[in-house]
Amino acid sequence: MSDYTVTVVGATGKTGRHVAEQAVARGWRVRAAGRRAARHGEWAMLDWDDEDTWRPAFSGSDAAYVLTPFNHPGAPERTPHLLGVAASTGASRIVLLSSLDADSAAEDSPLRLAERTLQALPVHSAIVRPTWFLDNFTVGSFATMTWAGDLRLPAGNGTIPFVDVRDVAAVAVAALAPSGPQGVLPVTGHEQLSHDQVAAALAAAFGRPITYTDVDSEEFIGLLMARGFSRGYGQFLADALREVAEGRLLIPASDTVERLTGRRPHDVIDFARYHAAHLAVP
Ligand SMILES: NC(=O)c1ccc[n+]([C@@H]2O[C@H](COP(=O)([O-])OP(=O)(O)OC[C@H]3O[C@@H](n4cnc5c(N)ncnc54)[C@H](OP(=O)(O)O)[C@@H]3O)[C@@H](O)[C@H]2O)c1
Repeated sequence: MSDYTVTVVGATGKTGRHVAEQAVARGWRVRAAGRRAARHGEWAMLDWDDEDTWRPAFSGSDAAYVLTPFNHPGAPERTPHLLGVAASTGASRIVLLSSLDADSAAEDSPLRLAERTLQALPVHSAIVRPTWFLDNFTVGSFATMTWAGDLRLPAGNGTIPFVDVRDVAAVAVAALAPSGPQGVLPVTGHEQLSHDQVAAALAAAFGRPITYTDVDSEEFIGLLMARGFSRGYGQFLADALREVAEGRLLIPASDTVERLTGRRPHDVIDFARYHAAHLAVP
C-alpha cells in the first residue's frame, strides 16, 4: 500500500462505494467518510449534520472525493462549506461529483454553487458530471419499479446515454490520482438507450419479466412519494424525463471514460449481468 491517502465521502453510496474499491485497488489508503462504515477503506466518521466531524474526516488526506447526498435536507446548501473545509485541511486535489444537469442549471442552484466554489479554491480540482445512472434501476430511486417488473416513468420513447456508476467511479479515481485530469469531465455511456432497452436488458439478466410503461408525470411523482421521496425531487426528475421524452433534451455521449481509462464504458447488458450476479433481489 502506498501512503497516498484519499478521503471518499459517501463511500456507502452508489458511486462512492466503487470509488473506494477502485482506490484501494490502486494501493491508496482510503478513508471512507460517512455516518457508518463502508465495505472498502477505513471508516472516518462524517455526518453532514455535524460540522465538527468534517475536518477530522479530511485531515491528513492528499485528495478527496466529495458528493452531496441530494435527498438529505440541507446537504446541497452546505456543500460549498464542506469543500472549503476539505481544502483547508491540506487535501490538494478535490474531485466533486456533480451532474450533467449543471450545464443548464441556474447559476444560483446548489450544483452550480458547489462547482464554482470548488473552482475558486486553491487546489487541483475536477468536476465529474455524469448523466443518468443505470444503477437507479437496481440500487437507486427506481429499484422498486424494477422488482415490480414495471418501469413506470414519463420518458416516452426518448433516449439517454445512461452510465454505469462503475464508469463514473473510474473517471473520479483517474482524477484523484496525482497528476490526474482537472476541469469539467462529462461522463456518459457510449450508446443512446430507450427505457424499453433498459427494461429488456434487466429482464434478460434477472430472468424475470420487466417492461417499461410511459406514464404521466403525476403518476410517476406519486410512485416516488410512496417510496418516501419528496414531491420536489419527483417533480425535478419528471420534468427532466419529459424533456427527454419530447426531444427537447438530447444528451450527447461523451468519450471521457474511454479517454481516461483506455476502455469502453460498460454497456447495459454488462451492467444488468453485473447486478444480477451481485444483488440479493427481493
Ligand atoms: N442518480 C443519478 O442518476 C445521478 C446522475 C448524475 C448525478 N447524480 C448525483 O449523484 C449525487 C449523489 O446521489 P445520491 O444522493 O443518490 O447519493 P448516494 O449514491 O445514494 O450516496 C449518498 C451517500 O451519502 C451518505 N449520506 C446520506 N446522508 C448522510 C449524512 N447525514 N451524513 C453522512 N453521510 C450521509 C449515504 O450514506 P448512508 O449509507 O449512511 O445513507 C451515502 O453514502 C447527487 O449529487 C446527484 O446529483 C446522480
